[in-house]
Amino acid sequence: MNTIHRLTEVGSTNDLARTLIASGCRSGEVIIADIQTHGRGRMMKEWVSPPGGLWFSIIFFPANFLSDKLPLFSLVVGLSISKVIENETSLYCYIKWPNDLYLKGKKVSGILIESKIRLKAVEWLIIGVGLNLNVDKNLLPEEATSIRDELEEEVEKEKIFLELLSEIEKAYIDFQESGFQFLPQIKERCLSLGKRVAFEMDNKRLVGKAIDIDEKGRLVVVVEGKVYHLSGDAELLE
Ligand code: BTN
Repeated sequence: MNTIHRLTEVGSTNDLARTLIASGCRSGEVIIADIQTHGRGRMMKEWVSPPGGLWFSIIFFPANFLSDKLPLFSLVVGLSISKVIENETSLYCYIKWPNDLYLKGKKVSGILIESKIRLKAVEWLIIGVGLNLNVDKNLLPEEATSIRDELEEEVEKEKIFLELLSEIEKAYIDFQESGFQFLPQIKERCLSLGKRVAFEMDNKRLVGKAIDIDEKGRLVVVVEGKVYHLSGDAELLE
């Protein structure tokens, strides 16, 4: 059984994970907090983390994990979360490339993967998961929702947390055997495919159609006949 560090309040579970790594911890250790006062999202954005949500980070020290697999792995974590939500609540969650989960057109979960790379290999990996579970959506940003508000009832937080840990750990192990096995399921749930997206390239904003996800987890976008493989972010326009 993994060590689970349970806190009522923390700045950010990802920040505490970094501290634990620096002071020496084991692969598989988990940090979960009821509230984060400085929750972080991707692109230096704030992640609002009031009571009722699931805010946790898992630490892994992989033996043989090349850094170019990280974008695909991030999608695999998204797939794991969407499967647990579906199994536990019957709500179908879409994956918005690269690592958001959407429910009825609104963001319900985000993933922040941080890592240390040495000679192209991942030395450590922090998987930070934020899931708006039993959160009052009035406390969340406009474009977000919560499971409780969509279901109109509370869900069992501890059960979903343990299911998520087990699903993500299983995916982490299976992914290292073969990451490609997950691609069809990811594509099936991907909200971005077939849609118009905008992205930045060489300080220019380009708009095109997302047509695929490649074997590295990059979004394949066609702009006026030219094909781009995106590894950053893309804004969904429809
Ligand atoms: C995003 O959508 O931009 C990613 C959000 C990730 C939020 C989680 S909550 C637990 C962990 N600790 C943090 O500070 N961030 C991640």
